[in-house]
Amino acid sequence: MASTTKPGENMLWGGRFTGGLDPLMVAYNESIHFDKALYKQDILGSIAFARANTKGGILTQDEFTKIEAGLREVMAEWEAGKFVIVPGVDEDIHTANERRLGEIIGKDVAGKLHTGRSRNEQVVCDMRMWLRDELRKIEEHLVVFLKVAADRAEKEVDHVMPGYTHLQRAQPIRWSHWIMSYSIAFAADLERLREVIKRVNKSPLGCGALAGNPFNIDRDMMAEELGFEGLLWNSMGGVADRDFVAEPLQWGSMLMLHISRWAEDLIIYSTAEFGFVRLADAYSTGSSLMPQKKNPDSLELLRGKSGRILGQMTGFMCTIKGLPSTYNKDLQESWEVMLDSVKTVSDSIQIATGVLATLDIQPAKMRAALDPFMLATDIADYLVRKGVPFRETHHTSGRVVALSEQTGTPMDQLTYEQLKGIDSRFEPDIADYFDYDRSVEMRSAKGGTSRESVLEQIRVIKEMLN
Ligand code: ARG
Repeated sequence: MASTTKPGENMLWGGRFTGGLDPLMVAYNESIHFDKALYKQDILGSIAFARANTKGGILTQDEFTKIEAGLREVMAEWEAGKFVIVPGVDEDIHTANERRLGEIIGKDVAGKLHTGRSRNEQVVCDMRMWLRDELRKIEEHLVVFLKVAADRAEKEVDHVMPGYTHLQRAQPIRWSHWIMSYSIAFAADLERLREVIKRVNKSPLGCGALAGNPFNIDRDMMAEELGFEGLLWNSMGGVADRDFVAEPLQWGSMLMLHISRWAEDLIIYSTAEFGFVRLADAYSTGSSLMPQKKNPDSLELLRGKSGRILGQMTGFMCTIKGLPSTYNKDLQESWEVMLDSVKTVSDSIQIATGVLATLDIQPAKMRAALDPFMLATDIADYLVRKGVPFRETHHTSGRVVALSEQTGTPMDQLTYEQLKGIDSRFEPDIADYFDYDRSVEMRSAKGGTSRESVLEQIRVIKEMLN
């Protein structure tokens, strides 16, 4: 029996949109629930666009005045929490603001706002403005973190602790040298961030849907009004590009990778087995079961969230990698990852700053963890200074270590005779070399762990912060 259903009647996509959208598709397509966060940027962008169109003779001065006043009213509604989103109508922030503007000033004038404009350029404008401002705040947070690190390193420069390779005791270092080892990485992040902000802060307004603006709109005028430093120079590239989202994600991944390793060190140093640092209560939590526990949750979350940022970066780059030219709806996926990752990175830097500013160090525990074996290189270097080739002194020092192990005598308590028996070139002053403070002071070349070298590193970083 032939079906009585007419073509298109029972099909969601029957005809050309005649059947309406699947309700789930409506929700799936909407971005208003997250892009409303940028209502302000959207409105400021519209005002700049209308002003430029007024200069170009597309709008009269009177129309512009109405549009601007109306848009400012829409902004006030958002700010007061009074803007009412119309479900199924307000697809995104651009549509919502324009719909409301029409209700306030009338559709005849409001309908002229979008002349020569596309949401494709609008969305990029909103996101770039927001991102630029957020990245500048992140830059400030990073500067504060580095200041805290540099101040701490300066104040606590006297404390000596084990430095590790392979997580095995290697050579004595200053605690401040450890602090600065990460600060150098974070300082490079700061340099990179300043570069990234410059690239984010370019204006897409005037790119149109893809081919450019047909009314010779003054792009420079709009860019200047909105605080952009320069234009995106190809209209197709301007609307296609989401590198400005990917690059901060890549930047954030690198930063979070540094934070993660930094946090891992501190987690280890805060264990009872190490005991070098104690986290402030403000950044630790207890166990619901074991009353004695104090857990470094802040550091674990920093380490954990780094995985999330790396994942968001990778996921987002997968989203854009196969897209054909210019705008495709896939690009809407850049919103949530941008909003979430900026929050995560920003919060993480501030938490790391809090942890570092408030943790207690235990210099006695640091010193107690030093082991005379960590001076084995210094013993080899002692003979080098007497003219013996290093390959030979390395071997000799190895025999001192072996003798210490065999006799169960700590290396610094072997007698002068025992040492002399291993190599006749040892002289009584060898005793002075079993000294951790002397050991760190010997590393006085630039970048080393001597007091002056560490203080110099602190000066280098501080200069970057001004
Ligand atoms: N909500 C859209 C987005 O975030 C705005 C751009 C829409 N453009 C379009 N051609 N449908 O990507």
